[in-house]
Amino acid sequence: MKQFTKEFIFGTATSSYQIEGAAFEGGRTPSIWDTFSRTPGKVLNGDTGDIACDHYNRMEEDITILKQLGVDSYRFSIAWPRIFPQQGQYNEEGMAFYKKLATRLVEEGIQPAVTLYHWDLPQWAYELGGWINRDVVTWFMDFASVCFQELDEVVSMWTTHNEPWCASLLSYHQGIHAPGHTNLDEAIRAAHHILLSHGAAVHFYKEQFGGKKPIGIVLNLGPTYAMSESINDQLAANNCDGYLNRWFLDPLFKGEYPTDMMNLYSKFIHNYDFMEDGDLDLISIECDFLGVNFYSRSLVEFSGASEMLYKGGYSDLPKTGMGWDVVPETLHDLIYRLREEYTDLPIYIMENGAAYPDVLEEDGQVHDIQRTDYVEKHLHVVADLNEQGMNIAGYYVWSLLDNFEWAFGYSKRFGIVYVDFETQKRYLKDSAKRYAEVIQQRSI
Ligand code: FCB
Repeated sequence: MKQFTKEFIFGTATSSYQIEGAAFEGGRTPSIWDTFSRTPGKVLNGDTGDIACDHYNRMEEDITILKQLGVDSYRFSIAWPRIFPQQGQYNEEGMAFYKKLATRLVEEGIQPAVTLYHWDLPQWAYELGGWINRDVVTWFMDFASVCFQELDEVVSMWTTHNEPWCASLLSYHQGIHAPGHTNLDEAIRAAHHILLSHGAAVHFYKEQFGGKKPIGIVLNLGPTYAMSESINDQLAANNCDGYLNRWFLDPLFKGEYPTDMMNLYSKFIHNYDFMEDGDLDLISIECDFLGVNFYSRSLVEFSGASEMLYKGGYSDLPKTGMGWDVVPETLHDLIYRLREEYTDLPIYIMENGAAYPDVLEEDGQVHDIQRTDYVEKHLHVVADLNEQGMNIAGYYVWSLLDNFEWAFGYSKRFGIVYVDFETQKRYLKDSAKRYAEVIQQRSI
């Protein structure tokens, strides 16, 4: 039996485009995900977030579910195109939705943890160059400052960005997420501007706004392992680590980009002139915590045919519905590494969870044994890490609800609450009931 302290935060997480729906309500204009999901072949079955979980119209019902779970905190994101439907055009109606949501959560004793950017860049910003255009930092600051202004009183913690790796490399280099470009030069620029907008927002919040609440960034991190001891496979693992982890951790915590990766990328990049003097000082500004999204690890081997000289290796470990290895013990390696090489700040696991093909029984039950086991195993590791003094301050299950899983549309269910997308009815899965029990007992 492992105990969690009473200060430890248990939560669940969602993001705006994945659950809100109401794509044409409240003055919202399209984001890059509305455009991308309408582009044939980009999202499985042509699914879109037009309706999603209709959370925009079912907020009260979803708050009731959060109450039932007994979570300490709820993590959600703000749809930028609801707040600025056009450049420089502030939309009060969009803000009113988030004000109501955060206020109602506080009334129910649930702490709102707010993410500013979870990938729904306004289409207007994309048309002006999106994350590739350095001016995006100014547009992001307009958005961030009005959010601080209007919501700071009711928000418990702020995160600037969710998973900059996905918003840059997965979106501009691999083309798998919106806007679907396949150009490393653009991706590295996008990553730089995302990090710069993070630094600028934190600076503004702390220096000019009085920064009362904790603020930080959320990275998707995974420890990388080589398939063998061979020098080639070791190089592959190092490159994978550079591409996924160090490209973000190093500038944020050391104020520099990793030289080995800069050299590797230079084959594909015109020049690094877009990195201006002072940028890295701003990017490495001190935050109050680090958010980590953890799902799995990477296991790789050398591949001369790949730009980054690695490819995924095979393992016969159990896998989630995404095909990701279930490896809770590797969270241990990741956290120790962060503590040794990067930071003493409190760490929040801002996302952890699993997709599995759930079955809704006639009596409304969903016996999701594998997901329950996945969450329990990761909570065990978190409790162990805290016994070892690793200072994990909270854990958020991804996700509260089954939702629009990006390029996979509605085919992957990550929720601890089942959503029948025909009727919009919600059903607590067994994992939700078990999570509620853990929270209530504050032990596992
Ligand atoms: C993360 C995203 C989140 C969700 C999970 C499964 O990369 O932050 O929106 O899609 O993966």
